[in-house]
Amino acid sequence: MSTKSPVPRYSWNGPVDHTIPVDKSKIKGKSVIITGGANGMGEVAARRFIIDGAFVTVGDMDVKRGEALEAELKGRLKFVKCNIKSWEDQVALFDAATGEGRGVDVVIANAGISRSSDPSGPPTKPDLNIVETNVNGTFYTFKLATHYFRKQPMDRDRSFMMTGSLTAWIDSPGNWEYTASKYALRGLMRTVRCSSWEQGIRINFIGPNYIKSAIRTPEYEKYLMDLGVRFGEAEDVASCMERLAADQSINGHSLMIVPRAVAKEGYMDVQDDDHVDGKREYFAGEQAIQLNIIKDQWLDGVPTQIYKR
Ligand SMILES: NC(=O)c1ccc[n+]([C@@H]2O[C@H](COP(=O)([O-])OP(=O)(O)OC[C@H]3O[C@@H](n4cnc5c(N)ncnc54)[C@H](O)[C@@H]3O)[C@@H](O)[C@H]2O)c1
Repeated sequence: MSTKSPVPRYSWNGPVDHTIPVDKSKIKGKSVIITGGANGMGEVAARRFIIDGAFVTVGDMDVKRGEALEAELKGRLKFVKCNIKSWEDQVALFDAATGEGRGVDVVIANAGISRSSDPSGPPTKPDLNIVETNVNGTFYTFKLATHYFRKQPMDRDRSFMMTGSLTAWIDSPGNWEYTASKYALRGLMRTVRCSSWEQGIRINFIGPNYIKSAIRTPEYEKYLMDLGVRFGEAEDVASCMERLAADQSINGHSLMIVPRAVAKEGYMDVQDDDHVDGKREYFAGEQAIQLNIIKDQWLDGVPTQIYKR
C-alpha cells in the first residue's frame, strides 16, 4: 500500500472552478463528522451527505434536536452530545464516529456562535465565549481530525474544512470577537495548507456571509432583510461542503457562499489567499522567502525548528 501523499505540495494553481458539479460517487460510503450539525447549515449539510450515501456523526450541544435527527435518520446519522469547548467531549465525539471500524474521511468544523460586542459601561472582563468556542473549539476539532486521518491508509482521502465567515475579508463593526475568531480560522488554513499535504490532509475554509439560520433572532433577520441584505442559501453551503469533500484536487482554498445572482452554484473561490495578482510584490517576495527558510515538515522523525531553548 502506498505511503506517498496523493495531495501535491500547496501552490496557487488558479481558482476553484465552482461550475464543476459535485462528483456524488465520491460521497458515497464516506464517514463524515460535522460539529454544530443539529441546526442551521450544519444540519442541511448532514442531510445532503446522507442522501448521497455518507454516514454522518453530528457533535452538538443541542441534545433535543440532535436526538430527533438521530431518530429520524436511523442508521445513517449518529448524534453525540458535545460542547466543542470541551476537549473531552470532542475526544468522545471522534471515538464514537470512528468506532465500529468506520474511521473518518471528512471533518467539518462548523459549530460557531456570534454576538455583538458591547463597549459601554465600566471596564469589565470581556466575555470571550465566542473565541473559546469558535477558535479553541475548532483547534480541538482540527487536532483530533489530523490524529484520526493519519491512522488510516494514505489512499483514503482526508478532508478537513471549517465554517468561517466572509468577515475574515470584510470589516464588520461591533462584532470584534466574532470577526477576530473567523480571521483566526483563516490563519489556520493559511499555515496548515503548506504542510498538511505531506500527510495527505486537505484543509479548506468556507466563508458564508448572510445565511438564514438560528444564529440570529427572527427579528434581527427581518431587520436585515428590510435593509436589503441578500442572503445566501444553506443548500449552497451544503453543495460547497460536498465539493470540498469530493474533490481531492482542492487544498488551501477559501470558498465564499454568495447569492445565486452572483454565482448560480451559490459559492465561489474568494481568490485572496495568495499574493499572485502582481500588485503586492513585497508580500509575494516575503512569502517566497518564508516558504524557503521554514523547513518544518509534518513528517514522522523530522524535527521542527526550535525558536528558543
Ligand atoms: N448564518 C450565517 O449567516 C453565518 C454567516 C457566516 C458564518 N456562519 C457560521 O456558520 C456556522 C454555523 O452557523 P449557523 O448559521 O448554521 O448557526 P445555527 O445557530 O443555526 O447552528 C449552529 C449549531 O452549532 C451548535 N453549537 C453552538 N455552540 C456549540 C458548541 N460550543 N459546541 C457544539 N455545538 C455548538 C448549535 O447548537 C447549533 O446546532 C457557525 O460557525 C457560524 O459562525 C454563519
